[in-house]
Amino acid sequence: MSISLPQLPFEPTALEPYISLETINYHYGKHHQAYVNNLNRLLENSPLKEKSLEEIIMNSEGPIFNNSAQVWNHTFYWNCLTQKKTEPSSEFVKEIEKNFGTMEKMIETLQQSAVSLFGSGWAWLVYDAGSLKVTQTSNADLPMKHNQIALFTIDVWEHAYYIDVRNDRAKYVKNLLDNLINWVFVEENYKKAINQ
Ligand SMILES: [Fe+2]
Repeated sequence: MSISLPQLPFEPTALEPYISLETINYHYGKHHQAYVNNLNRLLENSPLKEKSLEEIIMNSEGPIFNNSAQVWNHTFYWNCLTQKKTEPSSEFVKEIEKNFGTMEKMIETLQQSAVSLFGSGWAWLVYDAGSLKVTQTSNADLPMKHNQIALFTIDVWEHAYYIDVRNDRAKYVKNLLDNLINWVFVEENYKKAINQ
């Protein structure tokens, strides 16, 4: 079994003007693809070769972990994004308010987390032992390695925004949080998390 690059869940121009076709061509077409290619090469002589992507992530470290986690992180990230109008249900909004006070406070916490992360990594909304939390991970690290369930993420590696906004990570994060959250996907992840 080899790991393949999943299809994008939208047209490559669907996130414009916030995330350009050129960014998608590099970020999905080159970077995400390279993680898939590297992983398949690294798995050739590994006992993890026949395992699922999640099993590989949970049972590896070093280059196999880095590439498998980055394959998972990017597939998850694409699914977090849409320019279609989506809204969280009132039930899910109540849960966010219970954990953060207000929806605005949760978004602000995510924004600060994404902007303040030093170097490359990810900002997340996660489900952790019955609570919703905002977290940061460095490089390829991801919630499942910390017994948390990912609900939403922002990729803050420079390759996610450098073509569109150069070094202005804050602008990329604001554009994404203001315009591109796929609430349907986030809430699906929440419902799966509470039923596990
Ligand atoms: Fe990325």
